[in-house]
This record gives sequence, structure tokens and C-alpha cells, in this order.
Amino acid sequence: MSAVATNLAIDAADVTKAYGKGENRVVALAGADLRVPYGELVMLVGPSGCGKTTLISILAGLLTRDGGSCSVLGVDPQALRNGPRTAWRGRNVGFVFQQFNLVPTVTAQENVAIPLLIQGTPRAEAMARSGEMLRKVGLGGRERSLPLQMSGGQQQRVAIARALAPNPRLLVCDEPTSALDGATGQSVMELVARVAHEDGHAVVVITHDERIYRFANRIVHMDDGRVTRTEVPTKEHA
Ligand SMILES: Nc1ncnc2c1ncn2[C@@H]1O[C@H](COP(=O)(O)OP(=O)(O)OP(=O)(O)O)[C@@H](O)[C@H]1O
Ligand SMILES: [Mg+2]
Repeated sequence: MSAVATNLAIDAADVTKAYGKGENRVVALAGADLRVPYGELVMLVGPSGCGKTTLISILAGLLTRDGGSCSVLGVDPQALRNGPRTAWRGRNVGFVFQQFNLVPTVTAQENVAIPLLIQGTPRAEAMARSGEMLRKVGLGGRERSLPLQMSGGQQQRVAIARALAPNPRLLVCDEPTSALDGATGQSVMELVARVAHEDGHAVVVITHDERIYRFANRIVHMDDGRVTRTEVPTKEHA
């Protein structure tokens, strides 16, 4: 059993989560299971409100769960105290949020450099790396733009560059191609898939975009707070 377990970047079982109390209580996760080996890109799909963002927020240690078990990169994020958990996340987890969460007052390049600076990377090195990441997502030349001077798709690519910059062992993306045209979405997904397939890290991508299914090793379907089935993408998805 341990031989299998060591291969898993994510091993989450029977995860439950409710928001609010009393009349306002909403069950977001009703016993969700997810396993993701290193080197795989797993897509999480399902109707709006089924619990996708809640599940990955728990995996990334951004949100606490009510029940179930969760091992992420060998640790239970919830077992860590706040400070160590934030440090753990900064070192190991890249997160692309559904809303891009860019800092509006600083440039694209500075936004990408933020996680590196937080980890203590010298400023010159962090800025060089963030310039390189912006070029990789097709934004060479936009280093000095502020987020609001960029289109939604461009902001989304800045957010992706920021998540990739620290070379995280787990990359979690919430709708990374929703604001992108087909061609840009494909090239961003090529970058994201490389994190799994070349670097051997684990990647979880939430999406409604069937055009990117072909990048997945497995597609995990959720409904009503649970995982309902898992499929391997077929030729039809290519
Ligand atoms: N902060 C919150 N407070 C109260 N309820 C919440 C909160 N966040 C999410 N919910 C509820 O929990 C359920 C799951 O939400 P979640 O955001 O995880 O869904 P989702 O699958 O990511 O949906 P979408 O595809 O629309 O992003 C929904 O019913 C939602 O309304
Ligand atoms: Mg969501």
C-alpha cells in the first residue's frame, strides 16, 4: 500500500465541507475522493456549484475541510499551523484562481515576481525569471503593463506565469483557459501540461472547456459535492 501511496501527489478521501450555519448552511462537498499521481494532469469537471473550487482550495491549504482525509505532497495541509502552511504552499503549490487575483497597482512582471520575492529570491533574479515566464505565456513586451491595461486573456496568462514561476510540485488551475481564445488556450495548456509530463509534477485543472480535454491523463467528473466518475480522454477529445 505504501508503494502506491508514495506515488501520489494528492490522496484525498471522503472530503466534506459545508459553508455557513443554520438556514444558510450549504453543503459544498459531500464525501469527495481524488487521487493524483506525480506526472499526471487531472481535469476536474462538473456543473457550476458542484464543489470544484472548494475541493482544490482545500487541497491547496487555502480552506479547511470538515471531514475526510487529505494528503498533499506527503502532508496534510490542515495539520500545519498557519505560518508553516503558508510557507509550505508558497514553496510547493502554484494556484491560478478563477478570478485572477492580480495585484492591480503593480506591473505584470512584478505580479509574476511576487511569489519568488516572498520566498526570498533576490529581486534581480526574480525579475529576470518573471520576464522569462511572461515570454513563455506569450506576453513578451507587456512586462510593464498594469493588470487593468490588459485584456482578460492577458491577465489570465499573467496569473498562469505567476503560478509557474516558482516551479511548484503541485499546480492547481481554476478555469485557466476561460478568458482565452482557442489558439491561446491551447498554447497555455501546452505549458501547463509540460509541468506534469516533463517535470513530473502534479497538475489539477478545473475546466468547462472540452477543447482542452486532450491534455488530461484523466478527467474526473463531479456532481453535488462528490466525484461521480473518472474517464480517460478519447480520440474524440483530440
Ligand atoms: N464562501 C462561500 N460561502 C457560502 N457558500 C459558498 C462559498 N463558496 C462556495 N459556496 C457554495 O458551495 C457550493 C460549491 O461551490 P464551488 O465554488 O466549490 O463550486 P464550483 O464547482 O467551483 O462552481 P463554478 O463552476 O461555478 O465555479 C456552491 O453551492 C456555492 O454556492
Ligand atoms: Mg469554481
